[in-house]
Amino acid sequence: MDILACDTDDRLTELLKINDELNHIKDIDSLLDAILYETRRLTNADAGSIFLIENRMLNFSYVQNDTLKKRDPLNNKQIYSNFAIPINETSIAGYVALKGKTLKIDDVEYIDDNVPYSFNRSFDKISGYNTKSMMTIPLVTTRGHVIGVMQIINAKDDKGNPIAFQSSDERYLSFFAGSATSAIEKAKMTREMILRMIKMAELRDPKETGSHVNRVASYSIELFQKWAEKRNFTHKEIKNYRDILRIAAMLHDVGKVAISDIILKKPARLNEDEFKIMKTHAYQGAKLFKGNVSDLDALSYDIAYTHHERWDGKGYPRRLKGEDIPIAGRIVALADVYDALISARVYKPAWEESDVITVLEKESGNHFDPELVEIFLSIYDVIKAIRMKFPDLDFKIFTS
Ligand SMILES: [Fe+2]
Ligand SMILES: [Fe+2]
Repeated sequence: MDILACDTDDRLTELLKINDELNHIKDIDSLLDAILYETRRLTNADAGSIFLIENRMLNFSYVQNDTLKKRDPLNNKQIYSNFAIPINETSIAGYVALKGKTLKIDDVEYIDDNVPYSFNRSFDKISGYNTKSMMTIPLVTTRGHVIGVMQIINAKDDKGNPIAFQSSDERYLSFFAGSATSAIEKAKMTREMILRMIKMAELRDPKETGSHVNRVASYSIELFQKWAEKRNFTHKEIKNYRDILRIAAMLHDVGKVAISDIILKKPARLNEDEFKIMKTHAYQGAKLFKGNVSDLDALSYDIAYTHHERWDGKGYPRRLKGEDIPIAGRIVALADVYDALISARVYKPAWEESDVITVLEKESGNHFDPELVEIFLSIYDVIKAIRMKFPDLDFKIFTS
């Protein structure tokens, strides 16, 4: 539906509905995805990206591009790109973050010589994309604090040709950007709370780093996406599940807070009794989410409880088998083992990629759900992009 074709009341109702939906999204990445999607729908824009400010830089945080998606539908690598630009007047995004004002550019070819910013062609060069019009909107909190910028690219006419954005777009977007910013602030707080919980587990078990859980969560949502598409889940069902899956997957090993340091930090192999205690982290984690207060609790419970079960029934703690193991547990089991093998840990270097893939293939139908192994290998370039986005900075010694 083209919202700009509706009358004012309809437009307002639609904006309020979107606002309400945004406020129900818990995960920051799912939220950025929804914000960009709705902004592009409001303005009929072909592409867009969001930059959030971190460490005084504009960090590229999310992207959507219909043209590039159409050219290569399986490619989801773009969203895992990792770069940051300084907040200064030389770039368009930097300028908008600095001034806190929306900037509408009808054609990036003809930017006035008198302005301090210029259009950076490098993305177009790499991707083969052709940017023409652009609108860059600051994300400003109610206290007047800029937390990032959103950039939408190439408004389209009826035939899909790029045209300039309309001035009326600017008006609606300034209203929409305000509510989007409050939703982003809330989701960022949720993410920070989760990362703090993970930090607590990391203090006990140094293997559970922020990078590891971010990678496991990202592999998991990509696996789920493909698995659900094969089953014709609706777009909405997939989005809702991805939203809570990312958070719940990040918390898979949080039960380790209940395990003694003597066991977690033992520099040698665990003996049988110690391993028995170690295994209780699955149940201990599940206990934290017992009570099913929300969908997120229920999913976190399932993942903590079942991420060490195996497809062949030889896992722990309950020796569940095959499809008796919830799908989220099967997904995280694969994501977690893959990441443990491919990453350097204090006690081992990273395994060779070909060896890790051999293990996955060998364990397909044994440790892992065979359908998930197949999906995993089919999206392997995305998996690699995720690894690049969340590198383990601490273990350079093993990766150089
Ligand atoms: Fe675990
Ligand atoms: Fe893990």
